[in-house]
Amino acid sequence: MTKKPFFITTPIYYVNAAPHLGTAYTTVAADSVARFQRMNGKDVRFVTGSDEHGQKIAETAAKNGTTPIEWCDSQIPAFKAAWEMLDITYTEFVRTSSPEQEKSVQEFWKKLYDDGYLYKGSYEGWYCIHEETYYAESDLEKDEEGVFVCPDCKRPVQKASGEENWFFKLSDFQDKLLAFYDENPDFILPKTRRNEIVSFVKSGLKDLSISRSTFDWGVPFTFDEGHVAYVWADALIAYITGIGYANDDRKDEFESFWPADFHFVGKDITRFHCVIWPAMLMAAGMPIPKHVFGHGFLLTKGEKMSKSKGNGLSPQEIVDIFGVDAYRYYFMSDVQFGSDGSISIERMCQVYNADLANTWGNLVSRVTNMTKKYFDFKVPAPSANAANNPMAEMCDEVCKTYIDCMENVDFSGAAKAAMELAHRANLYIEESEPWTLAKDEAKHDDLADVIYNALESIRLIAIMLAPFCISTSAEACKRIGAADPTEIEDITAALKWGQLESGVEVEIGDALFPRLDEDKILTAE
Ligand code: ME8
Ligand code: MG
Repeated sequence: MTKKPFFITTPIYYVNAAPHLGTAYTTVAADSVARFQRMNGKDVRFVTGSDEHGQKIAETAAKNGTTPIEWCDSQIPAFKAAWEMLDITYTEFVRTSSPEQEKSVQEFWKKLYDDGYLYKGSYEGWYCIHEETYYAESDLEKDEEGVFVCPDCKRPVQKASGEENWFFKLSDFQDKLLAFYDENPDFILPKTRRNEIVSFVKSGLKDLSISRSTFDWGVPFTFDEGHVAYVWADALIAYITGIGYANDDRKDEFESFWPADFHFVGKDITRFHCVIWPAMLMAAGMPIPKHVFGHGFLLTKGEKMSKSKGNGLSPQEIVDIFGVDAYRYYFMSDVQFGSDGSISIERMCQVYNADLANTWGNLVSRVTNMTKKYFDFKVPAPSANAANNPMAEMCDEVCKTYIDCMENVDFSGAAKAAMELAHRANLYIEESEPWTLAKDEAKHDDLADVIYNALESIRLIAIMLAPFCISTSAEACKRIGAADPTEIEDITAALKWGQLESGVEVEIGDALFPRLDEDKILTAE
């Protein structure tokens, strides 16, 4: 049977500095979905990449005494290493400086040129190099000295006057976009973001400058080689390059994976993805992505963290303390996807110890140890007497909630469902007192039931945590003789109660999540 396609993307990140907690956040979230959807039987494409053209990168390169391409080449290894360290399973890393991307960008805009969506004009207005965004004077703010600054990053903006540019007739799409949002109420997620975009479009759209002629670090247009594509008119197209657009050898792949199921972006760039990008696609006669999810910002001590400010730790430093599974679990469970969220090392310690060490890790270690002690390492066979099995009773409901949450990218809800089962399993052990049952030969069947039910709960929890906690979920499954979660192709079937095989040997091992000493970590900072 051919699998259904599923396509998700992260932003195509600027390479003006190394990956940080913010870019890692979106990337881990997208990877969690990619992993879940593979377990859900989908054929997954997952595109990430690097946004290398434009003034910001050219300036960064110049400041570092290199050419733009040398600068970009020097930054890519750090991105790929960070994504590898975080167990990211992207299927394609698109560099906007690649020949494939150049071909896509040229083909896309040539089509819009041929079809009459472009015209030449001169741009009068303001430009923020850091945001790579055009602003009308009325959008700007002023600093204390009365200098115009960018409303987003608060840096001084540049006056652009009379640069000859190609323009895309974005204003023609105002009504079409509003109709599209109306017919596709789930296109922009979450709802709050949708309302912002709808009122922005209602307030009126201006045509968009899509080329620059005063510098050459970009993709030249084939219909006017003195112009390079504006960096956003380039980067957005990387999504389709990543599944084979404009590549004759990958036509079938492109046809089957486009439109994307999800573009994951931060709220800072939702407008580009929900206004400009769908209008570009409409003009090209291409289908529009199913969902753009604009998540919130991570804040440290109430401040937006970013690579340019350099506040906060790097992903590597946090992984060095907590390990990669706990890193992913923390960001996916503790920050509600969609809202802004405060993050701190204190909170990471709390979540780690409460959920991973004391609840989940503890469950695995006590139940495997009891299996060793009472059943000579073998998974016991449950008795025929299925009555009074609170774990099986709650399993259907919890697993359904979990799947629903994952399909709707509510990672906190999904993690909560897994923890609910883990808490209940620990409580079930307390209530049924296997250590007392073990003293009474007549209670042997009851003891077998308790241990079997607890082991089976471990299997389910490991599967539910598998999109977040890669190696510890695999390890928990291995210890109880269950298949590696990455082999699952039908998660709904895999989460049905009672599939753990009796008679197989369990393994005892080190704590999956050794308890951490919060004071020691905080003073070491
Ligand atoms: O905007 N909290 O690239 P970029 C959460 N090249 N997420 C954050 C974050 C924070 N504090 N800071 C950054 C660009 N992010 C363009 C994209 S796409 C065709 C081109 C994440 O390197 C979040 O996903 O500035 C945000 O949208 C993205 O990094 C911006 O990355
Ligand atoms: Mg940015």
